[in-house]
Amino acid sequence: MAPSALVLLLLLLLALAGGRGGTGQGGAGGSRRQVSMQYNPGWNNSSVNLLHVRAVGPSDTLHYIWSSIGAPTVLLVATESRSSTLGINWTQLLSPAPAGAIWIDPPSSVVYSTAVVFTKVFEYSEAKTLEELFYPTYDLSDFSWDSINHTLNHTALTAEFTGIPATDPSGSFSNGSLAFQVTAYEASGRDGPLPSLLHTANSSKVEFVLAGVALRGNSSRFVLEVATVEEIGVVQKLRSARSIDDEYTPTIFEMLSLVAESQNDSSMLSFLQWKATAYGSQTPRREDSIQCQSHGLQAANWTLPVSSIVHAYFGEGVGSTYTISAINISFGGEDGKVYWEKHYLSWSALLGFGQPPKDTFSPLVISIMAVALGTPIVILLVGSSVVLFAQRKRYSEYEPIN
Ligand SMILES: *[C@@H]1O[C@H](CO)[C@@H](O)[C@H](O)[C@H]1NC(C)=O
Ligand SMILES: *[C@@H]1O[C@H](CO)[C@@H](O)[C@H](O)[C@H]1NC(C)=O
Ligand SMILES: *[C@@H]1O[C@H](CO)[C@@H](O)[C@H](O)[C@H]1NC(C)=O
Ligand SMILES: *[C@@H]1O[C@H](CO)[C@@H](O)[C@H](O)[C@H]1NC(C)=O
Ligand SMILES: *[C@@H]1O[C@H](CO)[C@@H](O)[C@H](O)[C@H]1NC(C)=O
Ligand SMILES: *[C@@H]1O[C@H](CO)[C@@H](O)[C@H](O)[C@H]1NC(C)=O
Ligand SMILES: *[C@@H]1O[C@H](CO)[C@@H](O)[C@H](O)[C@H]1NC(C)=O
Ligand SMILES: *[C@@H]1O[C@H](CO)[C@@H](O)[C@H](O)[C@H]1NC(C)=O
Ligand SMILES: *[C@@H]1O[C@H](CO)[C@@H](O)[C@H](O)[C@H]1NC(C)=O
Ligand SMILES: *[C@@H]1O[C@H](CO)[C@@H](O)[C@H](O)[C@H]1NC(C)=O
Ligand SMILES: *[C@@H]1O[C@H](CO)[C@@H](O)[C@H](O)[C@H]1NC(C)=O
Repeated sequence: MAPSALVLLLLLLLALAGGRGGTGQGGAGGSRRQVSMQYNPGWNNSSVNLLHVRAVGPSDTLHYIWSSIGAPTVLLVATESRSSTLGINWTQLLSPAPAGAIWIDPPSSVVYSTAVVFTKVFEYSEAKTLEELFYPTYDLSDFSWDSINHTLNHTALTAEFTGIPATDPSGSFSNGSLAFQVTAYEASGRDGPLPSLLHTANSSKVEFVLAGVALRGNSSRFVLEVATVEEIGVVQKLRSARSIDDEYTPTIFEMLSLVAESQNDSSMLSFLQWKATAYGSQTPRREDSIQCQSHGLQAANWTLPVSSIVHAYFGEGVGSTYTISAINISFGGEDGKVYWEKHYLSWSALLGFGQPPKDTFSPLVISIMAVALGTPIVILLVGSSVVLFAQRKRYSEYEPIN
């Protein structure tokens, strides 16, 4: 009894130690960043939204520039200086020719730049003939956005872009809205609410939320189109990792990452990472999950609709200095009823510099595995002594009777 209990205890301790990586406390590398947020720097007018998130590390700075000028976009610029700054020429940015209106000083400090643009939302119904019936597209560059100024929380490092179509002939948005909720991080950790994404100080989260938007078909589904902008010499790849069910995201088995790799040495430069699920509730539980699928990565041959801040930063050199890729993410499968019932959909993705965080098994799962795998090992390792022990015990129990 005693030896097997000891081995089990050891295995459990090992499992819990291994599981610490999974919770991400302190984080790999342990680096923290000093994060600050600024709304429309240098522009005293809230008719447009631009949020500058500056994340200063031990020897570098990451700049995230979120904006709803044009289609909702985030620029990520990594610099190797702690004092690099963002420059904006507002008159030029808001003009029809914005190329060059956004820059980083000093330009030589920039090591890598990328952008993610949320271009369109499609809605379709599957007709009886298995053909898909598409309703008029929601072009996110034609939305009107509330000022994010009052949504900024400098403690929680969050902000929310909320918009509705500038013209809404079907009235679908009369009672609803579309939002991008942004969170920046100072250190590694794991989100509390589902899908409990793991994050590092090199990443930020964006949560896409459709709330109260009426469906135009009685069993229709939404698709979000996401485009990425990469410098020449960088390729986009979609990676999928299967995992087992754990307590962080019950029943979800797939983690997807759209990674930007350098063609020179295959090093990972940036990523957009998400779990294959959305949720139909503001306080998500496993039964609120909405299946999420990715379709047809169009690598490096996409054309970008209006995105002022991409043109403002990267210039007009599509194809010569940068390329655009795009992917569709659809929500709803056999469980497509969830949105219909709740009129709520939220999908979270992590965006960051470098390698995406890798989920390890959760402590609970590791303990269960340790016990399950451990028992036969325990029997193998200490089998003989347990048998001996048991035999001895039996003798000692029988002795008085004899
Ligand atoms: C910004 O504008 C508001 C009103 O539009 C004004 O009260 C305020 O003084 C301005 N601030 C600066 C720094 O110009
Ligand atoms: C803000 O800018 C818009 C458009 O440029 C303009 O119509 C509006 O009057 C400005 N508001 C203030 C308070 O300056
Ligand atoms: C944003 O809100 C702050 C106060 O919360 C205010 O001082 C500032 O002028 C606002 N900025 C703009 C551009 O409206
Ligand atoms: C901003 O851009 C405008 C238009 O391109 C230009 O005339 C102006 O000189 C620029 N301002 C600064 C401070 O560079
Ligand atoms: C900002 O976030 C903190 C932490 O989440 C919260 O305690 C605080 O109430 C929030 N502030 C506002 C104005 O919402
Ligand atoms: C708008 O929302 C309210 C409350 O959620 C609901 O009672 C109402 O029926 C909705 N109206 C429309 C037109 O969907
Ligand atoms: C964050 O980025 C820095 C380089 O800017 C790198 O040294 C560090 O390892 C990265 N941290 C993580 C957790 O990826
Ligand atoms: C759903 O659509 C079908 C055919 O498109 C229609 O016959 C049916 O009445 C609709 N149901 C509701 C509740 O709108
Ligand atoms: C690839 O290597 C070339 C030459 O060494 C360099 O100029 C370029 O910046 C590199 N590209 C990337 C994406 O690392
Ligand atoms: C774009 O590239 C992908 C593969 O990278 C290919 O499957 C697709 O057909 C291309 N699309 C166009 C329009 O060329
Ligand atoms: C996304 O789906 C829509 C509708 O089928 C299509 O028009 C669009 O080209 C797709 N985008 C990508 C990146 O595949």
